[in-house]
Amino acid sequence: MKKETLWQEAIEPLITEDIPKHLEVDTLIIGGGIAGISTLYELKKKNETIVLIDQDQIGMGSTARTTGKLCYMQELCYHKLEKIFNFDTARLYLEASIDAIKQVKHHILTNQISCDYEEVDAYVFTNDETEIPEFEKEEAFYEKVNLSYQREEQIPLDTPVKYALKTSNQAVFHPLKYLSALAKLSLEQGKKIYQNVRAQTITKIGEHYQVTTDKGTILAKRVIVCTHYPFFIHPGFIPFRTHIENSFITTTNTNENYHFQAITSNKPTDSFRFHYDDKNYFLYAGESSKNSNHFDYEKRLEELQQKLYLDFKVTPDYIWYTHDVMSNDSLPLIGPINHKNPNLMIATGFNKWGMTNGVLAGMILSDLIEGKENKYAKLVSPSRKINMEKIKNFFIDGYTSTKSIIKAKFIKDQPFYQDNVKITYEDGIRIGIYKDEQGNLHKVKNVCPHMKCNLIFNYIDNTWDCPCHGSKFDIDGNVLKGPSVYSIKLKKNKKE
Ligand code: FES
Repeated sequence: MKKETLWQEAIEPLITEDIPKHLEVDTLIIGGGIAGISTLYELKKKNETIVLIDQDQIGMGSTARTTGKLCYMQELCYHKLEKIFNFDTARLYLEASIDAIKQVKHHILTNQISCDYEEVDAYVFTNDETEIPEFEKEEAFYEKVNLSYQREEQIPLDTPVKYALKTSNQAVFHPLKYLSALAKLSLEQGKKIYQNVRAQTITKIGEHYQVTTDKGTILAKRVIVCTHYPFFIHPGFIPFRTHIENSFITTTNTNENYHFQAITSNKPTDSFRFHYDDKNYFLYAGESSKNSNHFDYEKRLEELQQKLYLDFKVTPDYIWYTHDVMSNDSLPLIGPINHKNPNLMIATGFNKWGMTNGVLAGMILSDLIEGKENKYAKLVSPSRKINMEKIKNFFIDGYTSTKSIIKAKFIKDQPFYQDNVKITYEDGIRIGIYKDEQGNLHKVKNVCPHMKCNLIFNYIDNTWDCPCHGSKFDIDGNVLKGPSVYSIKLKKNKKE
């Protein structure tokens, strides 16, 4: 079984130049995932200096770890949005999601992009009778907006269903083939991409922003942060407006030939799709959980594999782990971070619909940069008005984060740690020690540089993971994934 993603295999790394030590640009985009590359591509004709940097190879962060669904039927979100905000907000978000899917199709057709794009029906379903009233409310919303849908008693998979809704004109694709094509087209138009450059700090200097990276400095009139989770806390205080959920995605080679995507409404969510290139694949995402709840990734993976086998008689060929940023009012956060910083923009809080919302982010951010009206900008603005649901969820998110911190902070050795992982203290510093198969000890600080949560050892990836906002470090302390931009290195590893 491969512990990498199916999407990464088909992709040739993009060759880009080394970044100069000092740069001065009009627009700096940080993060080369779907949101960052879509923004860069939408700005391809803009006649100014636009540069994108990525801490790794483009697309190898969250975009490589998605299911690759383009979907407006996002579980049962619309009647919930109607309750949190109002009917018009819910309707506008539906329209925005439909437009994002159309935008992908438009780019594919215009540029003849080969990315295994396929239009499919989407289902949301449940096997739990208590969920039916929620489905009825969602149907009532569909009726009000005149959205064409069907109520179904079955979905094309052999799985029990008590209630299902089906809509059409949604899509699945190979996210990295699409992303690579847009990146190449942007380069051809004279835009610049620099890879393996990690942004570390951002400082406002007059009307400009100075971004320090591990390779030098960049002075920019505008900075667009599309890093899945912003690497800074202030401004914006995103950690207090979001929580993290994680899940596993599995891919199994199959002889089946289905063309649809589906998701359950109940928690934890199960999500399904099929993918066709030279082989057929069944993708299943499950075991979703708030980060604070289950630190024993190995046990969760075992449970997921058992479920897959029992329900579908399959054993996965690929398995990977993914984090989603969930906003506390169920809408993404796209646009200027606050009124004081109109030229510092973010794109995060995609609530598990990263492909659709990433494309939407590209449409909105590029319009804002070009000074154009965008009818969805206010809807997803990070400085949108606070409402009661947001206040309630602010406390829930606060409680969730605190629970993560407490669980991680006060339990020294997690009950599932084997003999090869130890937590200890040296000179008052909390240390994590991992002993590899050759007996080498790998010692690191066991405190996340982002907001000081203690780290948990992840036996699936052999990494130190932060339960608070999802930073990830290798056994030698190098940062693999933010929001932390600093390592947890302590000193050189010793051989036992
Ligand atoms: Fe925020 Fe670790 S404390 S990612």
